Parts: sequence; structure tokens; C-alpha cells
Amino acid sequence: MRFDFRNLVAALESDIASGAIVPAVTPHEIRDYLGSRYDFTKSMALDDVITDVERMMRRWQVQVTHPRYFGLFNPSVTLASIVADTLVAMYNPQLATWRTSPAANEIERHTLAWLTGKFGLPATTMANFTSGGAEANLSAVIVALTRAFPQYGEGGLRSLPASPAIYVTREAHDSFSKIAHMTGIGRRALRTVATDSDLKMDLDDLARRVAGDRRNGLAPVMVVGTAGTTAAGAIDPLPDLARFCRSEALWFHVDAAWGGAAIISPRLRGHLAGIDQADSITCDAHKWFSVPMGAGMFFCRHPDAVGEAFRAKTSYMPGQTDAGLDPYTTSVQWSRRFIGLKLFLALAQHGESKYVAMIEHQARMGDLLRESVQRAGWRVVNSTPLPLVCFTRDGLIASKFLTDLYERQIAWMSEVRLGDDAPVVRACVTSFRTTPSDIEWVVGEMSKLVVLQSEVTT
Ligand SMILES: Cc1ncc(COP(=O)(O)O)c(C=O)c1O
Repeated sequence: MRFDFRNLVAALESDIASGAIVPAVTPHEIRDYLGSRYDFTKSMALDDVITDVERMMRRWQVQVTHPRYFGLFNPSVTLASIVADTLVAMYNPQLATWRTSPAANEIERHTLAWLTGKFGLPATTMANFTSGGAEANLSAVIVALTRAFPQYGEGGLRSLPASPAIYVTREAHDSFSKIAHMTGIGRRALRTVATDSDLKMDLDDLARRVAGDRRNGLAPVMVVGTAGTTAAGAIDPLPDLARFCRSEALWFHVDAAWGGAAIISPRLRGHLAGIDQADSITCDAHKWFSVPMGAGMFFCRHPDAVGEAFRAKTSYMPGQTDAGLDPYTTSVQWSRRFIGLKLFLALAQHGESKYVAMIEHQARMGDLLRESVQRAGWRVVNSTPLPLVCFTRDGLIASKFLTDLYERQIAWMSEVRLGDDAPVVRACVTSFRTTPSDIEWVVGEMSKLVVLQSEVTT
């Protein structure tokens, strides 16, 4: 077998910046190719299949680890985290119970305890790795409902004295709509609170809505503050939300799926002040912690409520030890992959200080991008200390601009609508590989593109 893992990773690392970012391929092209080569009737040499699949992945997908991919929080990934995922696949440990995977369970626990401390949550916090942010948010809603309504687990929603209400803004992640649907509280249980001009939750409107809903017989349960919204990187006023939730006896969940990593940076952590007051936190390692998908994390300061929400008992699972509750009884998942190794291995290799440097580098690249587009005549329309820049200019049709941007392989950015305004361009620095010259080159090419597009239309 010629397959050499290290060479494969090294080749991608050295080639990625000079290659294409955006594929030009149709579904038919891929389907015809697969149909013509893979009918699974005969065996093939593994080396040949690996080479072929890698070629498909190079040609036929958006290269999210490219330094000029300014995308949807999908990061470049560290070598240690790639090795970790391979090791996990090799050993395939079962993390559902402590007994079946003592080492893996303790490695996850150790890693989560480190981040629990960074968030300022108590050491008794219950934390687990999840498939991603959506599962962590789902966990939060289930645990909050369980704590607010002791009858919820056995009697279901029909046993509740009033319909639960959860408070979000339009900028909160849309996973909450699916969660409201899946948990049976219904999508209308999500109450949309107004935002201020910086797209942060408006506290007065929150207070008004909670009071109004109580008067109308609803049961307010939870407020979701987002630390780094998906569209614009806005950070809700966490200290105010924490105070409000305490005074109203509401569950305070902070969705820090992307922005949460800023907690380890001395330069950025001040922007997350108040997160230590959260009842629960979502933070994705597979976003700003630069490890492969899927690696979300759920932190909750109420271990009893977590244990109650996910309790399970069977004769066929290995019995519990005195090491603590088994993960299949404290989380949504049952069989569980060793998700946490990629964060553990990367942290252990780089050390905290290099990780901080990686995160702060991306924040600086975000600042540079913001300054550069402004200098080049673009209007920045979002406000955040995080490396996410939304911008436009008079007459810009974002979709058309992006089509041409992709065609010229300048960069990958996306289109987003903030409030009711026309779509703008969204660019988020997600790669530790992005350099100042990448930024300057991209902004220069965008200026040329704008001139070209205006020549075509006049
Ligand atoms: C703020 C926020 N929360 C939750 C999620 C969902 O995370 P995941 O895609 O890991 O499930 C995202 C995804 O981008 C997000 O931006």
C-alpha cells in the first residue's frame, strides 16, 4: 500500500493556497462520474480509491481550509486534530459508558474542565461534547424545560400549566426554530425580541415581551443570548441579560458556538463578560478552535437537571462506576464517538499560548479586512470585535458580485441579509492561514471587479 497519511496532509497544506477555492461542477457531472466508476460489483485497490476520492475532494468542493475562504465558521484544521480523528477511527472507542472507554472519557472530561474554568463556570458544571452547536442548543432547551417543569419528562407538554416561551432575536441561530419544532413546544414558542442598531438584543423590548407573555398566560422559560451571531458577529448584552434572567427566574443560555473561543484570548475575552453567569453555554470546537467537524460542546451549571433530562437505564449497557454518570445518561446521544480528542490533542501540542495566538491572529486579520474594505470605498454595515465583516456599496447586487468573485477564484464569501435591508456581502476570517497579503490582494481584486461590473452595466 502506497498511502502515506503524513504526505497527504503535507501536500494539501503546501498546495491549498495556490489552488482553486470554488468548484464549478454540476450534479450530473459528479453522478455520471460515480455511476461510471463505482457500481460496487468488483473490488478495487484501496490506494486507487483513496487517490480518486481525494481528487474529487480537491476539485469538487469549496475549499474551506483555503486562506481565502471567508466563510460560515468552517475553519482550517490543525494537523494534531486531523491525527486525532484518525486515531479515533482506528480504535473506535465507545464513549457511551465510562466502563467501555475510561481513557477517552477522562480525556474529554479533562478538556471540558479546562474550558469550563475559562468560561468562569463552577467546577460542578456538567459538560459534554456534541455533534455540533445545534445539538448543544437542543440540549439546552431540553434541560431548561426539564428544570422549569418537573412534569415535562413524564407527562410531556400536555401536562404543563402553560405554554413555554423562549426569547431570541432574529439574529439568533435558526437551529432554535428546528429545536422548538422537535421538542414540541412549537415554532411559535420562540418570541422574537427586537434588536438595537448593532443587532444586539434590546433589553427593554425583552422585558416588555416577557411581562406581556406572562399577562397572556404563557410561561417564559429561557432567554438565548448569542455571543457572535452567525450573520453579523453581534454579541448580545450578556451582563444585562444575565441580570434580567436572574430577576425573572429565567434560564440564561448563551449560544457562543463561534464566538466562545474568544474566552481564551486576553485581548478578546472582555467582550464575553457575563457569560460566567449563564445557566448553559454552547461552544463549538469545530468553529474557532480549528478542529474538524463535528465537535460541539454543551456546558450546564445544573448537573442535576442534565441528569434528569437524559436519564436512561437498561440492562444491556455496562453498569455505572463511581467515576460519575455515564455519557449516554447525560446527553442527547447514545453511542458516542470520541469527539473530544481532536481538541485535546491540538491543545496539548500547541499549548494554550499558541492557541491564543492563532485566535488573535484571525481577529487581527478581521480588523485588517474591515479597514481595507473601508479604504477601498465599501460601507461596513455590522459592528463586532470578532473577525466578521459585512459590507456593501451603492448599487451592489451581492449575488452577482459573488458569482463573479467565485468565477475568478478570488475568495469565498457569502451573501447575507441584515434586518430588512438589501443583501450584503459577508466575509468571516476562519483560517489561521490567512495573511495580511491575502487580505490586501482580495480587497484589490474586489475593487477591480467592481470597476469591471460597472463597465459591463453602463
Ligand atoms: C451561533 C450559532 N449557533 C449554532 C450554530 C449551529 O452549529 P452547528 O452547525 O455546529 O450545529 C451555528 C452554526 O453556524 C451558529 O453560528
